[in-house]
Formats: sequence, structure tokens, C-alpha cells
Amino acid sequence: EMATKGGYPHFMFKEIYEQPESLASTAAGLEPARLEAAANALLAARNVYIVGAGTSYHAGLILAHLLPRLKLTPVPIVASEYAAYEPLFDKDDFAIAVSQSGETIDTIKAVRAMRERGVRVAAVTNVVGSTLSRESDLVIYTRAGPEIGVAATKTFTTQVLTLSALYVSALRLLGYDVAERERELKAAPDLARRVVEKTAGTAKDLARRLRQKPSAYYLGRGAALPVAMEGALKLKEVAYIHAEAYPAGESKHGPIALVEEDFPVVFVFSDPATREKTLSNVAEMKARGAFAIGTVPARSDYAKKLDVAIEVPDAGELTAPIAHVIPLQMLAYFAAVERGYDPDKPRNLAKTVTVE
Ligand code: G6P
Repeated sequence: EMATKGGYPHFMFKEIYEQPESLASTAAGLEPARLEAAANALLAARNVYIVGAGTSYHAGLILAHLLPRLKLTPVPIVASEYAAYEPLFDKDDFAIAVSQSGETIDTIKAVRAMRERGVRVAAVTNVVGSTLSRESDLVIYTRAGPEIGVAATKTFTTQVLTLSALYVSALRLLGYDVAERERELKAAPDLARRVVEKTAGTAKDLARRLRQKPSAYYLGRGAALPVAMEGALKLKEVAYIHAEAYPAGESKHGPIALVEEDFPVVFVFSDPATREKTLSNVAEMKARGAFAIGTVPARSDYAKKLDVAIEVPDAGELTAPIAHVIPLQMLAYFAAVERGYDPDKPRNLAKTVTVE
């Protein structure tokens, strides 16, 4: 293995800090013609299956949230659960398979089942020549560079950027003026640089306060939900703290029963369209004594409603998931280190799962 930590204490830390560069190389490597081919197929599709596992599935959910605006029907599928959807697969459909490694067996099997029934498949993967890249009709590469830490970080944000670029390409084909959205995507590396600089300190302090906690909720609405899911997954994976993500509005239908004094609840305020409604969930949780934490836009009033707020530099709608997930990655990383675990080699987990 040629990869080195380059002075960083762990690969996970290095890969979190590398995100400005990995986003820049991904953006530079996106081929407009390929994006357009995928966007054309997307726009012509009856159903759009979005398939992946783990972190890659979460990236797919962010795209799934945008597709109804294009009057498209997203069908997000956890790769290992594809069989139940098989009767739907048809030649008028299109699929986007998301996989960092391109080797996750569940994702590959889902793709095989789709293609057998005539579904055209576009792969989004970080590995050139991977099985998934060879078995798809179209490939769009993320260029995050090799990711050594078992928990995905830079590959998630580059997947989100790539899928957003696909969405913007579809908007352009539909005749929309996309200049502003293109500027937003172009500014993603610089945004990530500012986020890393500005949020590390608070994430580290907060990790110290979560050290002894057995459990936490991560709540978000709309496009913030997949970000909350990814934050919770990271905390479980490397810090071994039970974390459950839930749609914020749904949390009163069960999860709130467990909330008592100092129970940590992480609110993700990445989605501009749902921030106001999320505030009412903050109030509900605080009324039960929750320790209310969250990622909020900088210089906003949202911080005042929380016990501890991580202020995230302002981001547009498409790049906010990238900006808000970075401090959640850091929170998990620092919590693992605080608890004495090696975040690069979480127990029971593999970087790539090649068994069903
Ligand atoms: C494993 C890894 C995760 C990853 C998932 C999907 O569970 O530990 O970090 O998100 O596989 O991997 P893929 O390579 O398909 O993105």
C-alpha cells in the first residue's frame, strides 16, 4: 500500500481534510458530454432507480430528493433489498448505481438484475475499471483519490457533487438558466475548505461532550434527512455510539419517548426549505430536556435555539449537504479518538463488502 498519512494522525482525518482537493479534482474531471448522456437518459425515464449501499446510498438519496422537481419518479433502493423491486424493472427505466469501490456485491447484483430486464444503468464510482464500471451502460467517475479509512468521507462529498452536476445538466437540457447553480458547484472546493477550517474546533469540543453518551438522535427534514443519516452512520461506524437518524417531523411518533435530561439530539439545518419547521422539533426535544446540538448556517438565528451549534459557512441548496456533513464527519472522528478507538479500522466493518 503506497498511501501514507502524510503527517496526519489517521487516514480518516487526512481524508476529511482532503475534501477541498478531492472535490476540485472531481469537478475538473466531470465530462459534460457524459453527464449530458446520463441526463438525457434520466429525463426520458419512466422510473429512476437509485441504488447503493451504506454511505453511497445516502448520496443517492440526496439526488432522489431533487428528481420530483424534474417530474421524475425516483425509486431509491438499498442494494441488498433490490429483489422486491424486480417486478418493476423495465426497458423504459433508468438507474443510477452509486458505489465508491464499484465492487459491493449487493450493488452489482442489483445492477445485473436491472440490466437483464432492459434498464439502462449509469454508474457513479471512484474506481476506474471496477466491476461496476465494466457492467454499466455509462460511467461517471468521482475523482476523490484512494480512500483508505473504512468509513467513507471524501468519496461521499464527491458523490454528492457529481450527482448534483447530473441534476444541473438535466435542468440545462430542459432549458433552465443554470448559471448560478454552476457557479455554486464550482465554488464547492472553496466552501469545503472554509467549512473544514471553521468547524473543526466546535466539532472537537462537542465530541468530548458526547464521549460518555450511549446514544444520540440525528434529525433532519427534506434534503437534510440523508445528511442526518450519514452523520449517524459515521458516529456508529467509528465511535461505536448508537445513533439513529429520523425524519425530524416523524420523531414525535416514537423516538421522543426515549428523550430525557441531556439526551443528545443532533439537528441538521442544511436544507433551506425546511429550516423553520425543524425549529419546532428543536423546541419539542428541548422541552423534554434534550441536549440540542446542530449544524446551522453561520450568522443566523438558528444557533440561539440550540445548546451547541456548529456554524457552517453559507452554502447554496446543492452544496449545503456537503458543507453540513463535514462537521458531522469530524464529530464522529473526534468522538472515536476521545473514546480511544482507531477510526481507520472500525471493528466488524470492511471497506468493501463482497459477500451477500
Ligand atoms: C462498506 C463500507 C462503507 C461503504 C459501503 C458501500 O460498508 O464500510 O463505508 O459506504 O460499504 O461501499 P461502496 O464501495 O459500494 O460505496
